[in-house]
Parts: sequence; C-alpha cells; structure tokens
Amino acid sequence: MRILSGITPSGECHLGNYFGAIRQHVELQHGNDALYFMADYHSMNSVRDAALRRTLVREVALDYLACGLDPQQAIIYRQSDLPELCELMWVLTTITPMGLLERGHAYKDKVARGQPADHGLFAYPVLMAADILIYNPDVVPVGQDQKQHIEMCRDMAQRFNSTYGREVFSLPEPHILDAVAVVPGTDGQKMSKSYGNTIRMFWPRKTLKKAVMGIKTDSTPVEEPKDTDQALFQLWSLFASEAEKTEMWQRARAGGLGYGELKKDLLARILDYFGPMRARREELASRPDEVEDILRDGAARARERAAPVMAAVREAAGIGPAR
Ligand code: ADP
Ligand code: TRP
Repeated sequence: MRILSGITPSGECHLGNYFGAIRQHVELQHGNDALYFMADYHSMNSVRDAALRRTLVREVALDYLACGLDPQQAIIYRQSDLPELCELMWVLTTITPMGLLERGHAYKDKVARGQPADHGLFAYPVLMAADILIYNPDVVPVGQDQKQHIEMCRDMAQRFNSTYGREVFSLPEPHILDAVAVVPGTDGQKMSKSYGNTIRMFWPRKTLKKAVMGIKTDSTPVEEPKDTDQALFQLWSLFASEAEKTEMWQRARAGGLGYGELKKDLLARILDYFGPMRARREELASRPDEVEDILRDGAARARERAAPVMAAVREAAGIGPAR
C-alpha cells in the first residue's frame, strides 16, 4: 500500500505528537510504500521567520529519524524540494469551488482565534490536496482534525477527473490515527504547542523534570483516594503495562499514594522509554550533513513517484506541448 502523510514543522514535537502520530507513522513504514514529508510550505502560514523554518524542518526530521523512521524503509523529504507541488496546487485551485474552502473548519477556527485571514490559510486545503494527489496514495494517516481536508481532497480529485474526462487521480482513504486517546498537557487540557502545556520527550533531563514536576494535580491529601482521570495518571499510563495500570489504579483508590512519587516514576519512565531514541538523536544531530542527505535522497525518490502523475495531469489538462 502507498501511504503518505505530512508534518507541519511549526514547533518542537511533544508527547502528544509522539503518541498521536509519530509512533503510528513509524509503524506504518513496515510493509508499505510510505512517504512522510516536512511541510515547510505549510509552515509559512504560521512561522514567519526564515531561519526558524529551516531549524524546525531539521529538528522535526531528527525527531522522526530518532523515533525510528528508517530512511531505507520509508521516504522522508522536505516538501519544498518538490516545487512542482505548487504547480499542481494551481491546477487544483482552478477546479475548487470557493464554497468548499469556505466550509473549512481549520480556516474558520484559526481566524476566530485571531490569526490573519490570509489567502494561504484559506487555500491551504488545496496545497494539502496537491501534497496527496501527486502520488495517488491509497491511505493518508492523519489526526481527526485533518479528516475534513482529506474529504476536500477527494472532492478535488473527482472534480479534476470529471472536468478533463480522465481518471488521473485515485481517491485516497483517510486513516484516522486514534489509537490512543488525546494526550493531556501539564495543565490537563489537550497537549498542544499553542497552549504552552507540552512535555517534549527530548528535552534535557532538567527541563523535563521541571515540566513533569509541574503537572497540575488536585489537592487531595496523600492518604485519601485519588481521581485517576487527572492528567498525571493519563500520562503515566502511556508508559505502563495493563497490569501495572491496574495495580496503580488500585493504589490510587486505596489512598496513600503521593503525587510526588508518581511524578518521579513518570519522569523515570519517560527517560527510560525515550533513552535509546535520545541517544540516536544526539548521534544524528552531530552529523548535520547526513540529515540533509537523507532529505535530499528522499525528495529524489518522491519525485520519481510524482513524475508520472504530473505528466498525466499536464496531458489531461493540456498544459505544455502535447507529448
Ligand atoms: P499541536 O497541537 O501541538 O500544534 P499538531 O496539530 O501539529 O500539534 O499535531 C500533529 C499531529 O500530532 C496530529 O496528527 C495530531 O493528531 C497529533 N497530536 C497533537 N497533539 C496531540 C495530543 N495531545 N494527543 C494526541 N495526538 C496529538
Ligand atoms: N495539514 C497537516 C497538519 O497540519 C499536515 C499536512 C500537510 C498533511 N499536507 C499533508 C497531512 C498531506 C497529510 C497529507 O497536520
């Protein structure tokens, strides 16, 4: 199966990204033709600093590689290394009704939260459709928040095919990554860069400790039963087996469990779980040229897959000389 997904490098990856996306992306590389890209064109809607954009592409690529993405198995590349995506985006904009984009949740939400109503933000589902359709993938693994964009993408594919009377694009299926529940942040809300409540797995030990010790808990005294719906318990359970979880939940109900003890254990578990990945990350980070080579090689392999689709698009739409 061909699988494609994009990651907008808009900040440091955190535990929410790992359990909600990265882990599944890494698993899906096995037995599939998997492509993952650092969506630097997309990041232009939120990141307005050139040097920061380059840094974030590199950092997020390092995170993926450290977390087990194997460039021998999967293709990992930088979106802007395929500028033909912008050509396909234009082609798709010409068959995309305004009404379709006006219904976009992401645009409406971001504008409601005060982001400027730029055309890039409005048209972003068209670039996302180009990202996808350029490879005719079977499946696109994304978070629930992206489901509408995949539906829009399918709509655009059908419109192009019917406008030009050729089955150039196949319709990709969304694969919603909801294997784990929403990972809570240190304040109990959904962990998100925009809420400043994240825990980054690759922070230095001291920073990580500070974040874990700062997880908000209620003020139930040690000897009393604890509410296991709190963020601390939810985060801890990401690193525990079912048996450990049952035992811990029993202790919580019985009373006598201190939050400090649980936080220390959580910190130890995070350090342990991500230890080998952290070592791999440090090793890779010390060889910056290698990451660049991996991305460039990935782009070349991605382009091989994109070329026949772009040729079919141009042929169907009568762009350029006849072949
Ligand atoms: P953020 O909210 O920090 O900006 P993104 O929107 O860039 O994160 O999310 C990238 C991917 O990580 C998405 O597929 C999303 O579903 C997943 N993800 C982000 N935060 C969480 C979370 N708290 N719990 C589970 N998955 C998450
Ligand atoms: N918009 C996605 C997000 O913010 C990232 C993305 C860009 C993407 N292009 C894509 C995901 C194509 C899947 C397929 O998470």
